[in-house]
Amino acid sequence: MTNSNTLFKLDLDAQQHTDRLSSVIQQRMTESDNKISFADYMHLCLYHPELGYYSASNEKIGPRGDFTTAPEISPLFSKSLAYHLIDIFTQTEQPSVLEFGAGTGKMAADILAELEKNNVLPECYYILEASAYLRNKQEETINKLIPHLASKVVWLSALPQSFSGVIIANEVCDAMPIHRVEFNNNAVTELYVEHGDGGNFQLCQSLLDPRLQARSQQIQDLIDPQQNYKTEINLAAEAWLATLAQILQQGAIYIIDYGYPRQSYYHPQRNEGTLMCYYQHRGHNNPLILQGLQDITSHVDFTALAETAMENGLDVAGYQSQADFLIAGGILDHLHSKGMTTFDEMQQKMQLKRLTLPSEMGEDFKALSLTKNLDQLLSRLQLADRRYSL
Ligand SMILES: C[S@@+](CC[C@H](N)C(=O)[O-])C[C@H]1O[C@@H](n2cnc3c(N)ncnc32)[C@H](O)[C@@H]1O
Repeated sequence: MTNSNTLFKLDLDAQQHTDRLSSVIQQRMTESDNKISFADYMHLCLYHPELGYYSASNEKIGPRGDFTTAPEISPLFSKSLAYHLIDIFTQTEQPSVLEFGAGTGKMAADILAELEKNNVLPECYYILEASAYLRNKQEETINKLIPHLASKVVWLSALPQSFSGVIIANEVCDAMPIHRVEFNNNAVTELYVEHGDGGNFQLCQSLLDPRLQARSQQIQDLIDPQQNYKTEINLAAEAWLATLAQILQQGAIYIIDYGYPRQSYYHPQRNEGTLMCYYQHRGHNNPLILQGLQDITSHVDFTALAETAMENGLDVAGYQSQADFLIAGGILDHLHSKGMTTFDEMQQKMQLKRLTLPSEMGEDFKALSLTKNLDQLLSRLQLADRRYSL
């Protein structure tokens, strides 16, 4: 199969990789009426065990990869998050940490170092990672940056039956496979992927998966149902959170990601949805090319997550912009200049700006804080709390 793609020049290895994954996808289509849901397509593109974007052994995160995340920009991010964790540790018996999708392992290393500095190490720092490649990378990072704490870090292949402490997920929900839906003339259809002309994939319309019915009705109430409107629904993130709520005995879940409350997410003007792809730091909106080579992502509907949380016995304790969440975690107190060159100081200021300015990551990214069985108020979550907007 050829992958018609004039924007990006691929070397032979990359072309062969994407061709192999395209053949797997095509085979999957042949087995199911010549089309698959967009969620199944995205799952294969990102998580096929051998050829999926997150499974394959290419650099993904950082300057030599396709995108950068907050913990990679600066340790200030993880240090500030650590103080939110400490607030939970003081109210929880034998707390541990469980991090989902830990990327390169940098956030885990920086958080553990900060907790050690405060004499509040957790029982265990668990990591649950979908990608075998990133799991190895995480182990390397931990052994390099905090070798004396490496025994604290344990990789899990499945969720524990029960858990107490803090669960964290930074930029994980946006990487979960989403369903795509299209509204037109008062009707709603689901978008599937089929095999098109010239060896390419194309979108086609199909009957709506019944699980999308209720959410589609909510969206229809927010838009002009006559207009053509394409968007996404992230059922995977809701199911994931419902499971976490069941295993959490006492503690908190922090979900940090780019996203909006439902009213803004499904705004009439956002009529092409929020889906984006990243390849070598170039963003575009075509997920039907570069299979297995590019990241595919969409924003998070934080209202859906807050509703799921409440339905499953969690308290929604805070909803803040990333900037406010980090300021509440003391990011400004963590800036230091002792023994630093002027160049290092300037770099630190640049990092602070990237993490907190509204035009950078400060406003588009949000932190949703969910708790269970905690008695004391978490005062850090009161700073510019926006739960009213959910
Ligand atoms: C965009 S990266 C973010 C990495 C890291 N958290 C960071 O901030 O640098 C998404 C990560 O989520 C992982 N992931 C996605 N879905 C997951 C799931 N259901 N369980 C565990 N990890 C998952 C991916 O393998 C990847 O490590």
